[in-house]
Amino acid sequence: MKIISIANQKGGCGKTTTAINLVAALSANGQRTLLIDLDPQAHATLGLDRDDRFSVYNVISRITPRKMAFKDIIQKVEKNFDIVPSNVLVGTLEQELADEIGREMKLVEAIDSVKAGYDYIIIDCPPSLGFLTVNALRASNEVIITVETSRFSVQGVDHLMDIINLIRERLNHEIEPRVLVTMFDSRLRHSFSMLDKIRVKFSDMLLGTIVHTNVKLKESAVMGKTVLSYDKYCRGAKDYYSLAKELLAIDKVPLADNFEPETVLAPVVRAKDDLVEDDAPAITVDFSQRMKDVVAHELEAMAETTFTLNAPDAQSVYVAGSFNEWSLNGFCRMNKENGLWTLRLPLDPGVYQYQFVIDGRWQADPANDRKEPNGFGDMNSVVKVGANG
Ligand SMILES: Nc1ncnc2c1ncn2[C@@H]1O[C@H](COP(=O)(O)OP(=O)(O)O)[C@@H](O)[C@H]1O
Ligand SMILES: [Mg+2]
Repeated sequence: MKIISIANQKGGCGKTTTAINLVAALSANGQRTLLIDLDPQAHATLGLDRDDRFSVYNVISRITPRKMAFKDIIQKVEKNFDIVPSNVLVGTLEQELADEIGREMKLVEAIDSVKAGYDYIIIDCPPSLGFLTVNALRASNEVIITVETSRFSVQGVDHLMDIINLIRERLNHEIEPRVLVTMFDSRLRHSFSMLDKIRVKFSDMLLGTIVHTNVKLKESAVMGKTVLSYDKYCRGAKDYYSLAKELLAIDKVPLADNFEPETVLAPVVRAKDDLVEDDAPAITVDFSQRMKDVVAHELEAMAETTFTLNAPDAQSVYVAGSFNEWSLNGFCRMNKENGLWTLRLPLDPGVYQYQFVIDGRWQADPANDRKEPNGFGDMNSVVKVGANG
């Protein structure tokens, strides 16, 4: 069993969105998962439309007249998906326990009684580095630090790393830190230069999954749902499936057959997918199912196009282009095969522009002479796909 905190003392960098949707994706793979909302602002609790009367406050506080056991504050959200809600009282614990010895162990002790019933516990931390975040980190085996590319602050992450190091040294507790890029806007050059900096600074801590900016992630929270139950075919859902997949692979947990909806590539699906009415869930479901069948059928009929790149020193290479709305997702990550970066994509016949993204740097295909200017002052490579790929 594993406990993972989602942390960053900055607000608005995708912690709660990541916590909710990572839990949803892990539970979709059959992992028994618990989300602990530790933010007194209770965004995860509200984002899932939960009752917030009781929280870890009732478990940890000594002065509450309504003292409760940890198991009694757990609510079921979906199959394999439980939540411990939060409320404003959680924010008073820091002051209440200010003089108590061993106060950083409160959450560890509380969780201990229920841990055996879960495969994963995910803790959504508040936007601060105080008592609550320290308790979360002390209870965790891993921390995912969410970093938003538009407002990247290295300094903030450095402070969090200082706390992790302190916990290692003073409390003798190891935590594996990982960095997750969130709210990545692939239409902006700026995002790529930020990604570059993040790669240089955090190289081996950086997760391969990148969470793109996607309005469905915002909408689903407003509707009190996870993005997987709101629209499992949207990019936001794909990105969180991909994050769960990456973490499950690290833990060597096999994927269930029905884990993720059929592989769908952007151009066919997304264009039509976007037409789905947000306020008509019944139709959405039907429509998505129909789209899935249509796409699965179409994919079969499509031949594959192979992209290759010779970049022996590169750590990671993506191919992005007009065929996938220039996005960096798991589907366009290239694999190293016999010394060459390679990716086969089932593209529809047509003409596409593309570039490689080599360790975060955006570059045309050096082995392809066909290029067109792209409006950013450099050239995109061009590929023409015929009826047979
Ligand atoms: N990838 C994303 N695309 C679009 N909106 C997002 C994305 N991630 C988060 N948001 C939105 O940004 C706001 C802040 O995100 P949130 O997850 O609450 O951050 P935090 O918990 O770090 O404060 C919310 O309104 C959320 O819906
Ligand atoms: Mg939050």
